[in-house]
Amino acid sequence: MENISIENIKFQQVGIIRTPYTKNAPYQPVDEDDGEFRITIDPQYSDGLYKLDGFLFIYVIYHIHQIKQDLSMIVSPSWANGVEVGVFASRSPVRPNPIGISVVRVKRIMNNEIFTSGLDVFDGTPVLDIKPYIKDLDAKSDANNGWIDDMDDQEHLLLHIKGIPHDY
Ligand SMILES: C[S@@+](CC[C@H](N)C(=O)[O-])C[C@H]1O[C@@H](n2cnc3c(N)ncnc32)[C@H](O)[C@@H]1O
Repeated sequence: MENISIENIKFQQVGIIRTPYTKNAPYQPVDEDDGEFRITIDPQYSDGLYKLDGFLFIYVIYHIHQIKQDLSMIVSPSWANGVEVGVFASRSPVRPNPIGISVVRVKRIMNNEIFTSGLDVFDGTPVLDIKPYIKDLDAKSDANNGWIDDMDDQEHLLLHIKGIPHDY
């Protein structure tokens, strides 16, 4: 069989994410997070924002650029009580290609800046792409939580993952 090797993939940074986080960030975006969250798109790409303001939610795709941990194909998310899963069954930031994806609410778009609900990334994270979250394409009414559904106390764990404050 022909060995097809994909090499020299190059992406252009299209913007930068501004958040209050420098050392610690939530595991996933927190809808009601405090502080200002915005995405500044580089001027040469700003025409690409035309008509994005009609969408309530967007996908933000970014380079998780400050990873220091060693790569492993088996990971154990810190909130998951020692459960081990493959990296591709996880949302770990430590991956063969450190690409992150977050779905966030669009608050307003002004010139080349998208103001959003909370993002789970460090200030200065490079943006690779923005895509609209399209309800009829993207919302899956029969989606599940995979291996998280098998965990004891999964409702409680999901509060941790989502960064929702709770009393226990
Ligand atoms: C669990 S990942 C999830 C990212 C994304 N929502 C996803 O599912 O692909 C989020 C964590 O990545 C880490 N992180 C965020 N931005 C980073 C960056 N620029 N460099 C290195 N680590 C980062 C933070 O520890 C944060 O809690």
